[in-house]
Amino acid sequence: MNTFLQYNPTKLYFGKGEVRQLSAVLEKGVKVLIVYGGGSIKKNGVYDDVMAELQKIDAKVFELSGVEPNPRLSTVHRGVEICRTEGIDILLAVGGGSVIDCTKAISAGAKYEGDAWDLITRKAPITEVLPFGTVLTLAATGSEMNDVSVITNWETKDKLGWSSPLVFPAFSILDPGYTFSVPRDQTVYGIVDSMSHALESYFHRTENTPMIDGFIESLLRTAIETGPKLLNDLHSFEHRETMMYISTTAFNGSLANGTDGGDWATHRIEHAISAIYDIPHGGGLAILFPNWLEHVLKEDPSKVKKLAVNVFGISPEGKDESEVAKEGAKALRDFWNSLGAPSTLKDYGIDDREFDAIVEKTFIKPGVGTYKEMNRESVRDILNSCL
Ligand code: NZQ
Ligand code: ZN
Repeated sequence: MNTFLQYNPTKLYFGKGEVRQLSAVLEKGVKVLIVYGGGSIKKNGVYDDVMAELQKIDAKVFELSGVEPNPRLSTVHRGVEICRTEGIDILLAVGGGSVIDCTKAISAGAKYEGDAWDLITRKAPITEVLPFGTVLTLAATGSEMNDVSVITNWETKDKLGWSSPLVFPAFSILDPGYTFSVPRDQTVYGIVDSMSHALESYFHRTENTPMIDGFIESLLRTAIETGPKLLNDLHSFEHRETMMYISTTAFNGSLANGTDGGDWATHRIEHAISAIYDIPHGGGLAILFPNWLEHVLKEDPSKVKKLAVNVFGISPEGKDESEVAKEGAKALRDFWNSLGAPSTLKDYGIDDREFDAIVEKTFIKPGVGTYKEMNRESVRDILNSCL
């Protein structure tokens, strides 16, 4: 194992009815900016629950609505403006990963005199932020308990991930019942995204990590067991609860303890694709990840084989390592297909026209891939296999 520091200051309130914690954690009379998306929270009652709690403490409430899936810099600017003009004390993200990521950027942007894009592109350091909490409505990204945010600058078509230990949410409220209304396709994307975070953490090069590897394998087996059951019954509290805990755990730092952190190349490629085509993040990953596995196992099938045996229950009897690994990559593809996830770029009407731009955007920051280092040619190979 490598040396590691486990640090996660987010207070997580998990379970039915935990929205009641809002009136306990917020100070009386506080000025709150609620940040939300296109209106799902008004249809499913979450907005009313949140407002009822805020009324109990006489909070002065301001609103920023319309945060887009794949949140945009222009919306971050709108939020920063409200914080400055109204003297907001705390932000409250009510939604999925996009709403939370946008809130993180507003929280940092509000305390910076220049353009928030400088912080996202690391031209300026993040030294101070406005505090924020979250009420999660979609199990997918893990943003509710990590210090990562992904923002798209639609003018330059750049979708950039950034992080700062200052943008861990102060608290996050996770009521699985709030995800009942998540439509089937978004539920599938959430399962794929969570599993991808676990898979990318699994592909590290650190020795002697039986605990973390076993933890990740267990998380993946649980997702494989729960995903289909949940899709058969989108209102099952039990299955929503399991998936919600999986998605938070898959990207809150705990799967990287003692390892080199894993290989996040597919996330880099996916962000480059969705910067240009604005496709759902989980959909892009479903297309990419099995092809990344195929690419990796050509040179080194050992870990893909381990995944095949320990997660997909494939028997290694009488087969060489590479055969077992190939069966593992196919098992992942078959599983995601069985959920109804997309498997080729054609499913989104994407051809190879923008491949040059996607490759360049993948390398917007140097160094793509750690388990398998990528160059421009290998990214293009993977894209070709996604057609
Ligand atoms: O906008 P509203 O009306 O809320 O509708 C949303 C949106 O259309 C809807 N939705 C959310 N909760 C719902 C609901 N519909 C019905 N009932 C509910 N309870 O779902 C749609 C998608 O929401 P979004 O927040 O975009 O999805 P997700 O949570 O998958 O977030 C995706 C974004 O997060 C980034 C992605 O790149 C993408 O931009 N990521 C963020 C990460 C992080 N911060 O750690 C890591 C991830 O790897 C990822 O890159
Ligand atoms: Zn992701």
